[in-house]
Amino acid sequence: MPLIMVTGAAGFIGSVVTQALLKEGNEVLSIDNLSRGHRMAISEDTKFFRVSVGDGPAMGKIFETSKIDAVVHLAGLNQVGESVTDPDLYYANNLRDSLTLLESMHRFGVSKMIFSSSAAVYGVPNEVPIAEEHPIAPVNPYGDTKARVESALHWYGEAYGFQSVSLRYFNAAGASGPVGEDHRPETHLIPNAIKAAQGQIDHLSLFGDDYPTPDGTAVRDYVHVEDIAQAHVQALSALGQLPRRAYNVGTGKGYSVREIIDMTGRVCLADVPVQVEPRRAGDPPELVADASALKTDLGWEPKFPTIEKIIQDAVRWHHDHETGYPGG
Ligand code: UFG
Repeated sequence: MPLIMVTGAAGFIGSVVTQALLKEGNEVLSIDNLSRGHRMAISEDTKFFRVSVGDGPAMGKIFETSKIDAVVHLAGLNQVGESVTDPDLYYANNLRDSLTLLESMHRFGVSKMIFSSSAAVYGVPNEVPIAEEHPIAPVNPYGDTKARVESALHWYGEAYGFQSVSLRYFNAAGASGPVGEDHRPETHLIPNAIKAAQGQIDHLSLFGDDYPTPDGTAVRDYVHVEDIAQAHVQALSALGQLPRRAYNVGTGKGYSVREIIDMTGRVCLADVPVQVEPRRAGDPPELVADASALKTDLGWEPKFPTIEKIIQDAVRWHHDHETGYPGG
C-alpha cells in the first residue's frame, strides 16, 4: 500500500485530500504544526506528527523511519491580504519551509511531490479564463512564494529527476462530511457571508465595488473542495506519466462577490447585511480558470460545479459547527 505524506493535513483542503487518499487505498502520514489547522480535522486513520515542514531535523527523522512514496505538500499560509502586510511570515512559512522540505526529501531519496499552488501566481491576468501558459506575475507575496516553489520543483526535476505536479487552485470552497472551512480570523468570502446571514457577525464587509467587472465587485472561480481533492488523487496516480508542470484547478465559471452574497442569502433563507468598504490590498479584479489541460491530461471533471451546491455544503457545515471546530 503506498504511503503518502500529506503536509498541512489539519487544514481545510489538506484534510479533504487526506480523506480522498485514504478512500483510494493509500496509507497517509499527516504532518501539521497546528499553527492554523485544527487537530479535529486530522483523520484518525492516519499517523499524525505535529511538526513544521521547516524543521529539517524532525522531518529527517520521519523520512528516515518511514518509507514515504510521495509527498502532497499543502502546508502553508494562504491569506492574500496578510501576505501584503506581513511578507516576512509568508516567505518564511511558504518559501523557506518548502525549500527545507525539498532538501529533506532529496536527502532521503523521496522524489515525488504534488504541490499546492494557487491562481495567485498569475497576478492581474491579461485575459480570462486563464490558461497555464499565461505569464506568471504575482501581485502579492503569497502568490510569489507559490511561484518560487513551483520553480524550485522544476529545477529539482531537471537535476535530480524529481517528479512533480503543481496544482493551481482557484477559490476552494464548500465542505466535505465533517470537514469544513474554519480560519481564525476568517477572511474568506463564503464563510463570512454565511456568518453574516446567520447573525454571527454584524455584517459582511464587501471589499471594493469599483472593479472593472459587470457589477463592480471582484470575480472568482469557486471550486468544491472535494473536486480539488480528487485532482490530487488523479495527479498522484498519473505522476511519472505526466509532464512536470502546473495545472489549473477551477470550474471555468466566475461569480462576483455580489452574486455569492445573493446566493448565500437564498440558500440560508436570510438577508446578508453588507457594508461596502475599500478594495483589499493585493486582490485582482477577476480570476477564472481555463482548466482544460487538467481535463485532457487527467480526465478530471468537477463533480460539483454549481455554486448553489458549493454554498449549500458550506452552509450545512457552518450550521452544524456554529463556533467552528471544537477545541480550536
Ligand atoms: N471578500 C469580501 N469580503 C470578505 C472576504 C472576501 O468582499 O469578507 C472578497 C475579496 O476581496 C475577494 C473575494 O471576496 O474579492 C474572494 O476573497 P477570498 O478571501 O474568499 O479569496 P481570495 O480570492 O482572496 O483568495 C483565495 C485563496 C487564495 C487563492 C485565491 C485564488 O484564499 O489562497 O483564492 O483565487 F490564492
